[in-house]
Amino acid sequence: MNSNQSAKSVLDRVLVMEMVRVTEAAAVAASTLVGRGDEKAADAAAVEAMRRTFDTLDIDGTVVIGEGERDEAPMLYIGEKVGGAPGRGPKVDIALDPLEGTTITAKAGPNALAVLAAAEEGCLLNAPDVYMDKIAVGPGYPEDVIDLAKTPTQNVEAVAKAKGVEPKDIIVCVLDRPRHAELIAELRGIGCGVVLIGDGDVAGVIATTDQDTTIDMYMGSGGAPEGVLAAAALRCVGGQFNGRLLFRNDDERKRAAKWGIEDLDRIYKLHDLAKGDCIFAATGVTDGSLLDGVKKIRRPNGERIMTTESVVMRASSGTVRWVRGEHRI
Ligand code: FBP
Repeated sequence: MNSNQSAKSVLDRVLVMEMVRVTEAAAVAASTLVGRGDEKAADAAAVEAMRRTFDTLDIDGTVVIGEGERDEAPMLYIGEKVGGAPGRGPKVDIALDPLEGTTITAKAGPNALAVLAAAEEGCLLNAPDVYMDKIAVGPGYPEDVIDLAKTPTQNVEAVAKAKGVEPKDIIVCVLDRPRHAELIAELRGIGCGVVLIGDGDVAGVIATTDQDTTIDMYMGSGGAPEGVLAAAALRCVGGQFNGRLLFRNDDERKRAAKWGIEDLDRIYKLHDLAKGDCIFAATGVTDGSLLDGVKKIRRPNGERIMTTESVVMRASSGTVRWVRGEHRI
């Protein structure tokens, strides 16, 4: 590999499938702890496996969204260098969540994923680990059909009008949290169907892009890092996303300043969160709307395998690949 080649060409040619190996490894590791009631152990297994697999890739990677800041996360912390070619491989920024849905995994619920996004250097928002107010729709709508500055009712009305239906025909996915009580009441008040999910808003946002889910919109607050990951996925498959960081105290506001965020009320659109070429990869840990989870199979001859289902997408081409893996134990 010529070191003068741009990160873009490397993203195009090599990394797409390599990224699946990374999410597969994390998902397989986490799957051994599904339903065991231990969120930390499941997360640690996924982190360790993802970290190890990154080092087999010929990249000079930097974690820009990870497990936390250096003093709070032993591995895959923000700023950590990953990849097996430091200083000589292409420079790639990486946003990751080795186990998106730690609680889901511990309780064997649906939609836990191992997920990452990789982009050219400087193309992913370095979002602090705070909450983000989010709104998303899938592909096919006129530009700016959603606007976080408007009320939920106004947004539903705009989406319904663009779709040629009534607001009561719109289905909205929302994280089931007490803080969303008002939002849910408002949506139900105008007749919307509300799909409540226990956890996992990356899958919740991506569900808007899949007609089979019948979900039209995603609304509500969740993790800002998950917002960047979901935005990277929408960059690849189409759709719109608005996000606004939410700060609960001065400490969180200080953290934002540290990441160079000056306008605390800014509404980020898709390209503000993930720009340039990017790759999004996810592997199911537990069965969900997007992907099947890891399955263990024992063949009659005693051979044991684990199967995985993953999706990998690339923004520059819009290609979406569904990958089924069989891994011998
Ligand atoms: P974890 O994998 O870190 O447990 O995150 C799960 C999740 O549901 C995210 O998908 C979501 O963005 C966030 O938690 C919501 O946070 P909270 O549980 O505090 O409402």
